[in-house]
Amino acid sequence: MTDKKEAGFLQGLASYGDRDFSIYMRRAFARSQGWQMSELARPVVGIANTFSQFNPCHRHFPELIQAVKRGITAAGGLALEFSTISLHESTLSPNSMKFRNLMALDTEEMIRAQPMDAVVLMGGCDKTVPAQLMGALSAGKPAIQLIGGPQMTSRFKDDRVGACTDCRKFWTKYRAGEIDKAEIEAVEGRLVTTAGTCAVMGTASTMAAIAEALGMTLPGTAAIPAVHADRLRAAEATGVEAVRLIKSGLTPGQIITQKSVENAIRVLLALGGSTNGVIHLAAIAGRAGCTLDLKRLNELSDTTPLLAAVKPVGNEWYMEDFFAAGGIGAVLRELKPLLHLDVMTITSETLAERLAAEEEFYVDRRVIKPLAEPIEPQGGLVALFGSLAPDGAIIKRSAATPSLFEKEGRAVVFTSLDDMAARIDDPALDVTADDFMILQNAGPRSAYAMPEAGFLPIPKKLLQQGVKDMVRMSDARMSGTAFGTIVLHIAPEAAIGGPIALVRNGDRIRLSVKNRTLDLLVDEAELAKRRAALPKQADTSGLKGYDKLFRTTVMQAPDGCDFDFCR
Ligand code: FES
Repeated sequence: MTDKKEAGFLQGLASYGDRDFSIYMRRAFARSQGWQMSELARPVVGIANTFSQFNPCHRHFPELIQAVKRGITAAGGLALEFSTISLHESTLSPNSMKFRNLMALDTEEMIRAQPMDAVVLMGGCDKTVPAQLMGALSAGKPAIQLIGGPQMTSRFKDDRVGACTDCRKFWTKYRAGEIDKAEIEAVEGRLVTTAGTCAVMGTASTMAAIAEALGMTLPGTAAIPAVHADRLRAAEATGVEAVRLIKSGLTPGQIITQKSVENAIRVLLALGGSTNGVIHLAAIAGRAGCTLDLKRLNELSDTTPLLAAVKPVGNEWYMEDFFAAGGIGAVLRELKPLLHLDVMTITSETLAERLAAEEEFYVDRRVIKPLAEPIEPQGGLVALFGSLAPDGAIIKRSAATPSLFEKEGRAVVFTSLDDMAARIDDPALDVTADDFMILQNAGPRSAYAMPEAGFLPIPKKLLQQGVKDMVRMSDARMSGTAFGTIVLHIAPEAAIGGPIALVRNGDRIRLSVKNRTLDLLVDEAELAKRRAALPKQADTSGLKGYDKLFRTTVMQAPDGCDFDFCR
């Protein structure tokens, strides 16, 4: 009988008060699955499986899991898959962000409590990758991420289409009356036609890139399309690597450090990646005992050129093109002079060693630009500070309209999502294209739990006048596939009495992307009056269960919206 106390299948025994009985019971049940004793003596690799029929982005995971298992078995390990919570963007109410931390807790505790020496984290759709990295960091066992990969594009008439930048493009046309109901229904059937995550540089692809930039995936694997044979090969190689990881003993906390977090920010900026990436990376950094300071984000943004022209940046290229163009490796090689090259990666190579082995790799310069000839000289995201956002806000300038960057406007305020839904298309709404539309009470502690509602729809009457973009602001988030001059994550949020709660119709607001400022131009005496009249903070005494846990412990956007007790 194996007598390893802290490794293999007999680690972490159930507490019956009789160790030998615990072993006897565990093996009796394990053998019911047909395992040989010799197999149970192997090093154990858990596979955190997020397949779910509520998550179409992960519908290919059963095939991927078989490949991971082949790799683990070939390398001498015992592969044991286990299910965790799975999160999809469109099948969760009120939104998936509310459950990211729950998935992180589930992942952490199941890695810790079950007898495994290492774990393969299989994620893809937006919140799953950050949740798994957060959980694995806290669990502290060796872990490797396997990304599910993006969808392939499809066709609608003459258009090449992919979720979900094109989802929004067509929906805007429908709202403007440019296409009819029959046509939008036809589009609906063409937007998502393969397994995998959204086909553009949305949040899922951004988080995949961040996972590779942090060193938590095998090199070159983050952007492989979901249905590509290379994805299966990457899955098998990840299984092999997971067994090797047991020997090296490298844990996520040794890979995710302040330096690798900064590398990941550089990659996020060079990709013009999702604004959600800032929140998730802050949460991951927090679990590793590191920080993602928004002032530092701006310093890095000033010195990190935008290199990748993948939608919603530009109007031509999708993730499958980005993969064929060289993927994250090509971006990392361009950024080399700006990166911390001495950081450790999952293969026990430093980043310098990884990149040295890839110098001759092909790059398609139509999609990934050289450092010396970037799309923009600065990064795609910038943090704003000022009297409207004392703790910061984010704007994705690479997907915004530069002519709106330096502007003062009149506030048109919606006090909640319901208020906005009720009035946005009202012909009597007093709004012009020069106004700033403000959405309040959509932050993390609101009842909506920070939905992706920051992409406020342009009022129908303005759409019909041909207005394509206008300044919009909120304490909400925005899908990584969305675009427009949109200020997000305003902190502190309205639900805890942040200045955004004090904005009233007709107030003047000044936005300066150049100066990184966002100011409410109302005098302090008037603001003090409004503050005193604010309703008391939302009463959470009637809440129960997870709802109560979330609403009372979730932190603000600059802290990654993690639970305060998980840092
Ligand atoms: Fe899953 Fe976009 S909905 S990645």
